Amino acid sequence: MKLRALKTPAALVDLDVVERNTTHMAERMARLGCRLRPHVKTHKCVEIARLQVRGHFGGITVSTLAEARLFAAAGFRDITYAFPLPINRIEEAASLGSQLDRFSVLLDHPATLHELETHSHRTGVRFSVFLKVDCGYHRVGVDPDRDESVWFAAKLSQSPHLDFRGILTHAGQSYRCRTLEEISRVAGQEREVMVAFANRLRQAGVRVDEVSVGSTPTMSVTQDLEGVTEARPGNYVFYDAFQASIGSCSLSDCAFSVLVTVVGQYPDRNKLVVDGGSLAFSLDPGPRHADPECGYGSFITTDGRRPMPELRLVSMSQEHGQIYGRGPIDFERYPVGSQLRIVPNHSCLAAAMFDRYHVVREDHVLDEWSPIRGW
Ligand SMILES: Cc1ncc(COP(=O)(O)O)c(C=O)c1O
Repeated sequence: MKLRALKTPAALVDLDVVERNTTHMAERMARLGCRLRPHVKTHKCVEIARLQVRGHFGGITVSTLAEARLFAAAGFRDITYAFPLPINRIEEAASLGSQLDRFSVLLDHPATLHELETHSHRTGVRFSVFLKVDCGYHRVGVDPDRDESVWFAAKLSQSPHLDFRGILTHAGQSYRCRTLEEISRVAGQEREVMVAFANRLRQAGVRVDEVSVGSTPTMSVTQDLEGVTEARPGNYVFYDAFQASIGSCSLSDCAFSVLVTVVGQYPDRNKLVVDGGSLAFSLDPGPRHADPECGYGSFITTDGRRPMPELRLVSMSQEHGQIYGRGPIDFERYPVGSQLRIVPNHSCLAAAMFDRYHVVREDHVLDEWSPIRGW
C-alpha cells in the first residue's frame, strides 16, 4: 500500500531508520563498555522494543505501569520502572515483581521507603530498588552532595525487604543545550556526578552494583562511560526535530513523522492549513532556545528522503495546523488534498497522540503496529 491511501493525520514509523538508530546505539554502548537498557516510553510498542534489545541482555526501562504490564506479557523479563514509585501503586509493582526475573522501582523519599517496607513486611514481597539522583536537571532525585543522601542510600541498602541495585539519574538538562559541545559537557557532568557519588557510597560501606544514566542527547554524543554500568536512552529510536536542532542527530535520522493533508490554501496570507493540529503533534514548543524559528516540526518530502525547509508549522489548534512559507509559497505544489510529512518537535509526545503506527519504507506502508496507552 502507498502512503496516499492512508487516512490522515497518520503516524509514520520509518523502519529502515529505526533499524539504523537501534543498531547504532547498541554498537555505541557496546564500544563504551556499557549495558543498554533502552527506555521504551517513546513508542510503548512491543515490535519496536524487540528491535532495541536485539543482541542485548534484554532489559528495558518503562515510564508507566501500563507499559510494564504490556512488556511483561510480551516476554520481557527485566524491567525498570524509571519514575518515582507512587505509593498508591505499590501493590501493582509487587505483582509485577513476582512475575518477572527483575522489576526495579526507584525512589528518592523516606516516605516511599517506609511504605515499601510496610508492604514487604506484611506480604513477604521483596523489592528491587534504585535511588534516584539529581545530576543537575533538578526535576527529581536526591542531591549527591548532601550527607543525608548517603545516609538514605545506606538505609536502602540495609533494608531486609529491599534488593538495593544502585543509583540512577536522567540528565534532562541536556535538552537545554544548543550544540554538540554543550551536550558533551552535560554528558561529562552526568557521568562524573554519578561515579563520584557511587564512590562516596562505597567508601561509606554501601554496595552499589548499578550506576545507571541516560538521556538521548548525552548517550548520542558521549565518548566516556567509565564507571557507568547501564544507559537508558529512549528517544534515539525515533529522534525528532528537537534532537536534530541541538545536534544529537541529523534530520535524516528521524524515524517518526506525521502525515497530514492540505485542507485549505490562503494565498493572501501565504498560508496552508492541514488536518493535523495539537492533537497530532502535541504542543511541545521545541528547541526555541536553539532555533526561535523552529515552529512545531520540520517538513520532509513524503518519501522521507529530503528536507523541505521552505515550510513552517507555525501555529496549531486542536485539529488545525497552520503552515506559513519562509518565502512565498508555490501553491501549485501543495493543492488541497495533497499530503505533507512533518517530523514533530518531540516524537515521544507526538507518538503518544496515536493509537497505531504505520510502518513505512519511503512511501510504502509495510505494516501497522499498536502501542499501549494509559497508566
Ligand atoms: C528516568 C528517565 N530515564 C531515561 C529517559 C530517557 O531519556 P530520553 O527521552 O532523552 O531518551 C527519561 C526520559 O524522560 C527518563 O525520565
